[in-house]
Amino acid sequence: MKELSIIILAAGFGTRMKAKKAKVLFELSGEAMINIIIKKAYELSDDVSVVLSHQLDEVQEVIFSKFPKVKIIEQDMENFPGTAGALKNLEFTSEKTLVICGDMPLVEVEELRALTEKDCDLALSVFMAENPNGYGRVVALNGKIEKIVEQKDANSQELTIKLVNAGAYCFKSEVLAQILPKIGNENAQKEYYLTDSIALANAANLHCEAITVDEKNFMGINDKFALNQAEEILQNRIKKNLMLKGIRFRLASSTYIDINATFEGESEIQENVSIIGACQIKESIIKSSSIIESSLIENSDIGPMAHIRPKCEIKNSHIGNFVELKNAQVNGIKAGHLSYLGDCIIDEGSNIGCGTITCNYDGKAKHKTVIGKNVFIGSDSQLVAPVILEDNTIIAAGSTITEDVKSGDLGISRVKQNNVKGFFYKFFGAKK
Ligand code: UD1
Ligand code: CA
Repeated sequence: MKELSIIILAAGFGTRMKAKKAKVLFELSGEAMINIIIKKAYELSDDVSVVLSHQLDEVQEVIFSKFPKVKIIEQDMENFPGTAGALKNLEFTSEKTLVICGDMPLVEVEELRALTEKDCDLALSVFMAENPNGYGRVVALNGKIEKIVEQKDANSQELTIKLVNAGAYCFKSEVLAQILPKIGNENAQKEYYLTDSIALANAANLHCEAITVDEKNFMGINDKFALNQAEEILQNRIKKNLMLKGIRFRLASSTYIDINATFEGESEIQENVSIIGACQIKESIIKSSSIIESSLIENSDIGPMAHIRPKCEIKNSHIGNFVELKNAQVNGIKAGHLSYLGDCIIDEGSNIGCGTITCNYDGKAKHKTVIGKNVFIGSDSQLVAPVILEDNTIIAAGSTITEDVKSGDLGISRVKQNNVKGFFYKFFGAKK
């Protein structure tokens, strides 16, 4: 028999989010909440199920994109709404079942592990809330937990209780199977509440224990205000971890780092930088107000105010201000100012002059620009793709290049200059 199964509840409508998309699809630090919690669940067990109903297909697609082995359970919302309704008719095959909510992405794995290691029939998580609004209140007598009362069912005295249900429970599976059929829906919301299992377990003389957990980690993300609070907490965690790994932040509070970004070696991140998507940053300096999206940056300096769009690989290079790259593989180059380099490959020793544009889009399709080694591109040049500039070539400033340039050659395409003698005086008349 398996030791532990984990069930993540994520079928709710998320009404308080006031949003078209399902609540658990909202992202924190670049990852859907549901996937953040699934990743943690897998650290405890390889048997992970998610209960879905609202927008099942959309949520399932996001889950399967990262975790194809997750078991999806569909809740019968019409007949059995509520957190216990979510578990209706399930078979429990492991020794213990950990039930957690899809809207608590900040929870730490070790806190969940503690719940699973308690020697009792039902371990539940509680905390003293600064503001208990929205949480189920934990009613205790002489230190013994009696029951949980949901906010909407609580009387005025129960509403003053600050000890609340954090929303994670570990049941002996046989106990869960025994209690679930007894849970009814006689409450304000006409829902089957999993929280009723505490009173039922007590009535059956079963052994319940509460573990006090950290309020911040267990916060339920019910609305967009909580979403923002959670984002700040998660960002602070991500950046603290990176600082302890040797990454220098000039002003950490102003930067945004994706949860899927990885860093190697020593790098510096200056103020107002955004690192978006699964970037890999190795031994580099990302200067002020630059945006890096889903790209690899190695041994390079980027910015200030550079925009590195997805699918770039930038190695041993200097990318300066107002330079935009997209799907560009560059190694050992300098592009110091005001350029657009999209769908291109650029090799070592090449210098991209100010104002260079790869014209990669002809209105129908995208085309590639290939630039070899030691190519010198003069300022304000347009490279109309598809085009190849071989090793050791020069492009004259102000050229529009439409033909390939062979190794050793100069590419130039500009109107020959004509100086008209004395034209100024003819036009404006004599000036003192
Ligand atoms: C729930 C608890 C509350 C606790 C709080 C902690 C119940 C009845 N209440 O309240 O005691 O303090 O979490 O954050 O359990 N879900 C389903 N199917 C449903 C309803 C909900 O899968 O029919 C899922 C939701 O998608 C969500 C989770 O269960 O991920 C919790 O539901 P939510 O509506 O957020 O419960 P709370 O009101 O926050
Ligand atoms: Ca909630």
